[in-house]
Order: sequence, then C-alpha cells, then structure tokens
Amino acid sequence: MKTALITGVTGQDGSFLAELLLEKGYDVHGTIRRSSVDYRERIAHIEGHPRFHLHYADLGDSMSIMQVVSQVRPDEIYNLAAQSHVQVSFDSPEFTADIDATGVLRVLEAVRLCGLKDTCRIYQASTSELYGKVEEVPQNENTPFHPYSPYAVAKQYGFWIVKEYREAYGMYCCSGILFNHESERRGETFVTRKITLAAARIAQGKQDKLYLGNLSSLRDWGYAKDYVECMWLILQQPVAEDYVIATGEQHSVREFCELAFRNVGIELRWEGEEAEEKGIDVATGKVLIEVSPDFYRPTDVVNLWGDPTKARAKLGWNPQKTSFAELVKIMTDADMAKVAVERAGESVRTNLAEYLEKGIVK
Ligand code: NAP
Ligand code: GDD
Repeated sequence: MKTALITGVTGQDGSFLAELLLEKGYDVHGTIRRSSVDYRERIAHIEGHPRFHLHYADLGDSMSIMQVVSQVRPDEIYNLAAQSHVQVSFDSPEFTADIDATGVLRVLEAVRLCGLKDTCRIYQASTSELYGKVEEVPQNENTPFHPYSPYAVAKQYGFWIVKEYREAYGMYCCSGILFNHESERRGETFVTRKITLAAARIAQGKQDKLYLGNLSSLRDWGYAKDYVECMWLILQQPVAEDYVIATGEQHSVREFCELAFRNVGIELRWEGEEAEEKGIDVATGKVLIEVSPDFYRPTDVVNLWGDPTKARAKLGWNPQKTSFAELVKIMTDADMAKVAVERAGESVRTNLAEYLEKGIVK
C-alpha cells in the first residue's frame, strides 16, 4: 500500500484527489489549517475512513511541514495548497508569495532533510497563469512564460524551484501546468461557480442580478475530477517531467453565462459593450447580468488555451472526457439542487451539517 500526502486537501482538487487515491488503495494523509469555524464540507464524507488521516500544517510554517513529512514518510506528495485566487493576490501579494512560492521550497526541503529525496515523488500544482500575457496560442510545454499577476509570479518560482531540485538533487519532482478546471465543488468566488450559483438563485427567485468583470476573457475550462487523474498519472511515469493539462478548447465568460442560464431555463441576449454590456432575459426583458469594475483586475490574463498533446500521448489521458457543455450542466444542476434547499436569508453553508446528514448536499 502506498502512502500519499496531500497539502490543500480541503480544496476543490484536494478533495477529488483524496477520493481517487482512496479508491486506488492508498493510505491518504492530508494537511488542514486551524480556523475559528471548521468548514470541511468537501471532505466531510471521507472523514472517518480508516485510510484517511488529517494533520495540521501550514505552508507558511516550515516546522509544521517538517513534522508532517517526517511522521507520514510519504511515497508521494501532492502539493496543492496555495492562495489560489488571482484577484486576491493583488490585495495580499506578500502572503501569496510566501505560500505559493516559498511554500513550495519548504515542501521540497522537508523531503530532502527527512532523507526521503530518493523515495518520495512530488507533484507541484502549477498553472496556466504562468503563460499570462500570452506569447503564443495555444500554449504548450515550450511556450514562453509571461506571468501577469502576483499569483502567477509566485507560482513561477514554484515551477522553477521544482525543476531546480529535480536537476540539482535528482529528485522525482514535477509540475502539472493545469489550465482552469471547475466543478460543483469550485470556490464560490471563481467566475464559473459565481455564474452557476447566481443562475440557480435567479431562476428560483432568490437573487435579482449578477455582477461580473471582463466578459470577454477566454479560458480553457475542464472538469476537476478528470484533472486530478492526471496528477496521479504524472507521478506514475518512469521519468519526472512537466505536463500541460487542458481540454484544447476555449470559451469566453460570456459563453459560460449563456450556457449556465440556458440550463436553468433562461435565454440571454447581450446589449452594449465593455463596462456597459448587459445580459438580458429574452423572455422578460429584465437585466440579469451587469458589469462591475470591482471585478476588473489591474492586469488580466485574457487568452488561455492549452495544447494537451503531450498529456494525451504520454499519459494516455483523454482531454475531452467531460465536454464543456457537460461541465456547465454538472455545475448548474448541482447548484439548482443546493439553492432549492437554501432558506431565506441563510446560505447552504449555514445548514450544511443538517443537509449533509439528510443527504440533501453531497
Ligand atoms: P482551492 O480550492 O482554493 O484550495 C486551496 C487549498 O490550499 C485549500 O485546501 C486551502 O486550505 C489550502 N491552503 C491555502 N493556504 C494555505 C496555507 N497557508 N497552508 C496550507 N494550506 C493552505 O484551490 P484548487 O482549485 O483546489 O487548486 C489546487 C491547486 O492547484 C492550487 O495550488 C492552485 O493554485 C492550483 N491550480 C488550480 C487550478 C484550477 O483551475 N482550479 C488551475 C491551475 C492550478 P483552506 O481550506 O484552509 O483555505
Ligand atoms: N473571479 C472572477 N469574478 N473572475 C471574473 C469575473 C468575476 O466576477 N468576471 C470576469 N472574470 C474573469 C477574470 O477576469 C478572469 O479573466 C476569468 O474570468 C477567470 O477568473 P477566475 O475564475 O477567477 O479564474 P482565474 O483564471 O483567474 O484563476 C483560476 O485558474 C488558474 C489557472 O489558469 C484559479 O483557479 C487559479 O488558481 C488557477 O491557477
């Protein structure tokens, strides 16, 4: 039985990866952080599993990382923990650098100092944000990086320090350069989830309007459940290498809105341009979507489109396993169900324990 350590196990990807590794028979350890309210909704259903263990550790705290690595002595580490919100990285650039850049170094050093450098394989959660102000379309493993936010600059350090430890110490460590991947477990302030939740609430009369930023931004959106499979595959290869993981298809935020609202029975038409653009309900003429400059970023990455040729060829991975339309449907269906049980003035989160118990929310 292999032992895996997942940092960031409470996150979207961490929770799906923990499920996958448990299915594969691994002993799975995850790191969590202390907070005044313990919302661990994404992993609540696997807590108590005999092969699932949680440890307190913070990527900003070397000693906690050392402690968990020396105690668990993992065969594989998936370093998913990060301040993962690009817009937030403009408000908290130092914290983002500490966790997303130096934090990666702390994990690598913990493995080395615990004498595990020849036995422990490390996956680093890298990102398409490294391509930033893109220099070619679509982007592959050879496309030059041009990070365009404090988040991306920090992640670029993470990418290079992983490569450095691979070459300097012969460690099996590699980065998955993952393009955006979403799911029904996506954080509620990322654009896709913000849209599917709002569409569900508007359709059920619980919200009037949705405010968004750049509607023309283009992303290569995949399904997170498919992407965690790649993380595992990347660590099973004979030689440590970096991989681009993407669907190879690109859509705009505007298109995502159209599809999500259609799924809840609302047909949208657009009027106006840029900050004046509005999404209008064709049936009622009501304005449902408006642009707010609050959601503009000082520098925005607007043209991400991945080329998954290497992952398809070497990992045997199918980038089109879940289509764009299926992804949006999975998310809108899940949010329609969640919103239906929201009580007036309360969020799903408020009643989570009760909903989990009754099986209303999974
Ligand atoms: P997420 O849902 O935001 O999860 C982030 C995880 O990191 C959470 O478990 C969070 O814990 C943890 N974390 C944050 N700060 C930490 C710290 N100081 N010490 C320890 N843990 C900390 O992100 P995700 O979407 O699952 O993404 C996983 C990783 O992939 C991230 O590194 C992200 O940057 C990267 N990535 C994501 C995408 C994507 O589209 N999803 C694409 C490319 C790369 P709390 O629950 O306590 O906050
Ligand atoms: N969050 C958000 N909120 N984004 C908006 C909004 C809004 O109201 N309106 C438009 N957008 C645009 C953003 O400007 C951006 O161009 C795009 O929608 C996607 O934004 P996010 O969903 O916040 O994701 P991201 O692409 O910035 O970052 C995610 O993907 C990266 C991989 O490319 C995160 O998961 C990162 O951690 C990940 O590395």
